[in-house]
Amino acid sequence: MEYRSARPEDAGALAHVYFRAVREGAVDAYSPEQRAAWAPCEPEADKWRDRIAGLNTIVAESENGIVGFMSLNPDDGDLDLAFVLPEAKGTGVAKTLYAILENHARSRNMRRLHTQASHLARPFFERQGWTVHRENQVERQGVTLTNWIMDKSLT
Ligand SMILES: CC(C)(COP(=O)(O)OP(=O)(O)OC[C@H]1O[C@@H](n2cnc3c(N)ncnc32)[C@H](O)[C@@H]1OP(=O)(O)O)[C@@H](O)C(=O)NCCC(=O)NCCS
Repeated sequence: MEYRSARPEDAGALAHVYFRAVREGAVDAYSPEQRAAWAPCEPEADKWRDRIAGLNTIVAESENGIVGFMSLNPDDGDLDLAFVLPEAKGTGVAKTLYAILENHARSRNMRRLHTQASHLARPFFERQGWTVHRENQVERQGVTLTNWIMDKSLT
């Protein structure tokens, strides 16, 4: 597995990983209605290129292509995106992506990272030393999804 910074031309592959991670990977945590509201369709590459513009995004790439990615907003410490293909879940991909981003954040003297974690991401972030602040409800396409406001102090 190679870990590297995302390039603009990765946008289509990242959109695909995102869509499959939500629709198939989150099957045990969110209902079909919730998953469809979260990711109504596979985003177009151009839109996803705009989505990740300005973010520090690291990808995990196997010989078959990109299997996961994670994005940090370097301006405000928001760990914005974390998605791994269903078949690569549980193999340490997200852990390695996160370690790279936390190192980047520390090298930039960022003091605190924060995120809105899904039911699946919450235990993942807890394993990385993050704290849950509170439950959070978000509405997408008229459907309510629960996530968790979490953070980690780097000081
Ligand atoms: C959340 C997600 C990114 C985690 O990716 P992953 O590659 O499976 O995580 P890793 O294999 O690197 O796991 C690292 C550690 O966290 C633990 N962990 C990860 N997900 C977990 C879960 N859902 N429940 C319990 N533990 C979990 C692993 O057991 C592992 O522990 P270890 O270090 O003791 O071995 C992945 O499950 C995913 O893409 N989910 C669907 C989309 C989603 O919800 N994204 C988050 C949006 S906020």
